[in-house]
Amino acid sequence: MTGPFRVALSGDFKKPDGSPVFPDFDLAPLTSAPGVEMAYLENASPLRADQLEDFDALILLAHRFAAESVPKSGRLAAVARFGVGYDTVDVPACTANNIALCITPDGVRRPVAVSIITFMLALTGKMMVKDRLARLGAPGFAARGEHMGVGLVGRTFGSLGVGNIGAEAFRLARPFDMKFIAHDPYADPAVVKELGIELVSIEDLFARSDILSVSCPLNPETHHIVNAQRLALMKRTAYFINTARGPIVDQKALTKVLQENRIAGAGLDVFEVEPTDPNDPLLKLDTVIAAPHALCWTDQCFAGNGAADIRTVLDIQMGRVPRGVVNRDVLEKPLFRERLARYAALANGR
Ligand SMILES: NC(=O)c1ccc[n+]([C@@H]2O[C@H](COP(=O)([O-])OP(=O)(O)OC[C@H]3O[C@@H](n4cnc5c(N)ncnc54)[C@H](O)[C@@H]3O)[C@@H](O)[C@H]2O)c1
Repeated sequence: MTGPFRVALSGDFKKPDGSPVFPDFDLAPLTSAPGVEMAYLENASPLRADQLEDFDALILLAHRFAAESVPKSGRLAAVARFGVGYDTVDVPACTANNIALCITPDGVRRPVAVSIITFMLALTGKMMVKDRLARLGAPGFAARGEHMGVGLVGRTFGSLGVGNIGAEAFRLARPFDMKFIAHDPYADPAVVKELGIELVSIEDLFARSDILSVSCPLNPETHHIVNAQRLALMKRTAYFINTARGPIVDQKALTKVLQENRIAGAGLDVFEVEPTDPNDPLLKLDTVIAAPHALCWTDQCFAGNGAADIRTVLDIQMGRVPRGVVNRDVLEKPLFRERLARYAALANGR
């Protein structure tokens, strides 16, 4: 291992005309770092192994990194996801090949938590309906009394998952004087205590929440964890929010409870199939506010993700363990440790 530390960016960071998809992702700290070279890959999903043979690290947007993406050279040391979802990455394949998979919790925490609060306020305030009424003029004003909003004081805000984003949503909701409940089998007791959250069973979460938000990862355990049976436990007046991943929810079942007005409405940033089908009956409902998996997309979100990914790859280049490693067992593997030690020696000799 000599020569520059080479960083690949997946091809989907560039538009077809070559301009950056996220201009707020400032690459300067990477391009100006001594001993670092970067290059964009061609678009491919999953990425191909031959594209990655000569790289030490990969910054990955939406393309898949599958078992067949692992280069044979054994040089790739880190995959840095731009965001925190990693259902597009084969984690066991990374670990087996001494590749650290890293995510950017610091970049998405606040922007996605703000999305949850945005949905909560827009739904309970009936904002979309009132926007339509205002545009109607006199008939709209005459009808406004039929669209009373829902105050939040004393109401129950529930979260399925109280990790990085779920906890931040509670943190932001503190001034609303709500009750906080959550279901999370792996919740951090310190966070639960800090925020005054009552941990409850999944059934109680659905039955008691006035606003129920999903903030757990998508994995085999959580696929369709929100199903017809659980949705049936919700109050007619309750709102459902999903900013996590679409397949956590059985979307057909959610559509049915919304169509039958068995819940008050939903705020959805994610869907079982993306992009959505414009004819999907879910999107015909006035009680649904939808966003194209982008409610958290702000200048600050992308700047934050980019800065975190660059920190990750530069940490590896310096032989340091980066923040946000998902497959922490890789850190104990002798080959990975040797690799970090070699990077550290190179960095010291530079
Ligand atoms: N909409 C977007 O653009 C966007 C952006 C970033 C992240 N996300 C999604 O948000 C979700 C949360 O991200 P995060 O950074 O908070 O992740 P995190 O890993 O920090 O937190 C997830 C929490 O879910 C809990 N959990 C795991 N299994 C559970 C289960 N069966 N039931 C209940 N809780 C369970 C975990 O213990 C953890 O506390 C992820 O699905 C992620 O993909 C969406």
